[in-house]
Amino acid sequence: MTQAYEIIDHEYDVVVVGGGGAGLRATFGMAQKGLRTACLSKVFPTRSHTVAAQGGISASLGNMGEDDWRWHMYDTVKGSDWLGDQDAIEYMVREAVPAIIELEHYGVPFSRTPEGKIYQRPFGGMTTEYGKGTAQRTCAAADRTGHAILHTLYQQALKHDAEFFVEYVVIDLIMDPEDGACRGVVAWDLTDGTIHRFRGKMTVMATGGYGRTYFSCTSAHTCTGDGNAMVLRAGLGLQDMEFIQFHPTGIYGAGCLITEGARGEGGYLTNSEGERFMERYAPSAKDLASRDVVARAMTIEIREGRGVGPEKDHIHLHLEHLEPAVLHQRLPGISDTAKIFAGVDLTKEPIPVLPTCHYNMGGIPTNYRTEVVTLTNGEPDTVVPGLMAIGEAACVSVHGANRLGSNSLLDLVVFGRAAANHCAEVVDPNEAHKPLAADAADFALDRFDRLRHADGGTPTAELRLEMQRAMQSNCAVFRTGEVLEEGCEKLAGIWAKRGDIKVSDRSMVWNSDLVETLELDNLLYQAVVAMHSASNRQESRGAHAREDFPDRDDENWMKHTIVWCGEDGKPRIDYRPVHMRPLTNEVQSFPPAKRVY
Ligand code: FUM
Repeated sequence: MTQAYEIIDHEYDVVVVGGGGAGLRATFGMAQKGLRTACLSKVFPTRSHTVAAQGGISASLGNMGEDDWRWHMYDTVKGSDWLGDQDAIEYMVREAVPAIIELEHYGVPFSRTPEGKIYQRPFGGMTTEYGKGTAQRTCAAADRTGHAILHTLYQQALKHDAEFFVEYVVIDLIMDPEDGACRGVVAWDLTDGTIHRFRGKMTVMATGGYGRTYFSCTSAHTCTGDGNAMVLRAGLGLQDMEFIQFHPTGIYGAGCLITEGARGEGGYLTNSEGERFMERYAPSAKDLASRDVVARAMTIEIREGRGVGPEKDHIHLHLEHLEPAVLHQRLPGISDTAKIFAGVDLTKEPIPVLPTCHYNMGGIPTNYRTEVVTLTNGEPDTVVPGLMAIGEAACVSVHGANRLGSNSLLDLVVFGRAAANHCAEVVDPNEAHKPLAADAADFALDRFDRLRHADGGTPTAELRLEMQRAMQSNCAVFRTGEVLEEGCEKLAGIWAKRGDIKVSDRSMVWNSDLVETLELDNLLYQAVVAMHSASNRQESRGAHAREDFPDRDDENWMKHTIVWCGEDGKPRIDYRPVHMRPLTNEVQSFPPAKRVY
């Protein structure tokens, strides 16, 4: 069947999959260093989900008060609930400062202080003096920071003549059975229906998260974990998939993001009694505690009958006490969002909000150089030749069990840049490509063709909704063994229906029915491995809150989960140790401690 597809071949030094913040930073960095680089994106790059990032990007610039990268490192380790790798965290927070200055020089239109410096706002869990004070560390372009950064990076990519393949859906990786190396990808050009084989001496996955496994999320419809699923299908494991972040302030009903910057600028949450309840849960940081803490507190308030609204099922976020000029200048985007999606004028009334799936801490395991690693014969950090991962698709792991707000845009930029630097060191533009087997595209094309001709009785949208409902109810802010076990069973039933999927459109040009089916297939892998990893981890850590195991258990569980999943939909789990040692001796390791805010 697959011989029916004519294949157009391409050769590049580096193939980057994904045109969001991480993908663009990597792509233009590589082009700048003289590597022939192709960036493949299923959407136009400036429509990638990075465009929706609002509140800002962290760096200890110290523009608004004293700051230190060591304090940023401590906050990030503590925020990760000691699951983050301290070598990678040191790398990220130190590189943050030059990376932001570089962005400024590239032209990112950051908001400014009266003296003309980059404006920085407080964000949850960001402190000074190792937890004593509140840091103003989050560099902002009003509340459209992701938009500003993404457009600037795209301009830089154009300036450096990077090559883009837009509206190309990558189907699968090309793996060499001889040495386990990645040799490139197979992709489908939506615009004319052609099939392409991209050979790369290095392939970089920058494919984002899998927020769309949930019914309600802040993620774009494109966040379907495509790269993660390709890695699983290549027989490699994913890391820490049980750690899924719920942003405290998604708009009730619509799920759209209301930035944490709103609380950074002085906003606060209340329950049905008008109480500022965060004072009870986090007496010091209050509304600016870390996200997992705030999301849990909101959920408890609702569960205990103190939610607002006729159903008592959400919480109020207040900004109406702030000066309209501040709202206009610092939070113009959410002023519009609140109006459109909640019908609220935030200068006059509170915004109805609810914790909403926002970010995936887990993903493709990498080291701080962004090389993909795997467990081989008990060796936890074996590098997979030819394959790298960056951004939300990757698990470096700098966020561990819980990411701090504004460390995500930072992760994209720092590790996108690291990927470019690493490729410049290891990829030789003059070296010939390794030979490819004649059937190298068959694995991808067999899957593509099977789904294209799927003629069962279950429409894609129906199965997707079933999966999203299962994730929403069985893998939520609070979890128990029983509920997770039920979730695993529900997903096993949904997985079984993959064989009964119905695709109505068989065409090759802009077949959105088939795109959604390929995406659903990718999402299902993510849902299954996330639910099983959550069921397996018998402790509470960061965003993974088990009511039946309410404490963190460092003795048994201070380790990364690695999960594999084959075509049978039955995951297998093993573990990697957490890197407790920093990268240099300029900072000491932060030993585990009780996490209070
Ligand atoms: O709330 C926000 O602006 C989101 C930021 C982030 O997830 O880093």
